Amino acid sequence: MKPWMHLSSADLAAQLPDGEDQEVHFPQALVETVLAGYTTPGETVLDPFAGFGTTLVTAQRMGRRSVGVELLPERVELIRRRLTGGADAEVINGDARKLRTLVPGPVDLCLTSPPYMDAIGHPENPLNAYETLDGDYPTYLDELGDIFEQVAQVLRPGGYAVVNVANMRIDGRTTFLAWDVGKVISAHLTLCQEVLLCWDQPPAWLTGDYCLVFQRPDG
Ligand SMILES: C[S@@+](CC[C@H](N)C(=O)[O-])C[C@H]1O[C@@H](n2cnc3c(N)ncnc32)[C@H](O)[C@@H]1O
Repeated sequence: MKPWMHLSSADLAAQLPDGEDQEVHFPQALVETVLAGYTTPGETVLDPFAGFGTTLVTAQRMGRRSVGVELLPERVELIRRRLTGGADAEVINGDARKLRTLVPGPVDLCLTSPPYMDAIGHPENPLNAYETLDGDYPTYLDELGDIFEQVAQVLRPGGYAVVNVANMRIDGRTTFLAWDVGKVISAHLTLCQEVLLCWDQPPAWLTGDYCLVFQRPDG
């Protein structure tokens, strides 16, 4: 991939599924570029945080197989409505922390964006879809590390994991989320590239948006 990508905030807003008001999806242009660069038709893509299903829907359109995991049943239903049917795309209603029991693998690529968290003053637990108040940043990072250890196990040798994650500054406090998440994933996969996502109208809280590209070592 090129080390930067230009992205349009208006395009992202226009891609929000009907009736949704939360921008938890990543742009189609990003997904298309990653799928074109790291997979060929017929290969399988995994998204352990499937969200509104951008990865799965775009994969289906580009002739890739896909499997996603999403915690919230209403989002699973939304993704199922967005997919056109057939055995090439599957979304599982479950917890990515149990990925190994849900997805047997192997998959050729993992493309995802985890739910974000501020390092301080953020009791809503991202890995419970912000629905419980037991959030704790070190625990969150540990759990993301465990999830990507499981991603490494289902990824074929030599396969890539591309993770969209940002650094943030909220209420005068900076969270180095991209660096912190990058470090915990690096315990299981090799970091190969950092792609800078250049938004034309970045939100005020965003200090830097990245796709971190990891690879599972061969054999
Ligand atoms: C940043 S969004 C992903 C955006 C997605 N790539 C898209 O294009 O729509 C994160 C998603 O992860 C889901 N999630 C949070 N905790 C989860 C967990 N433990 N297991 C699986 N999904 C989870 C959230 O409900 C949310 O839909």
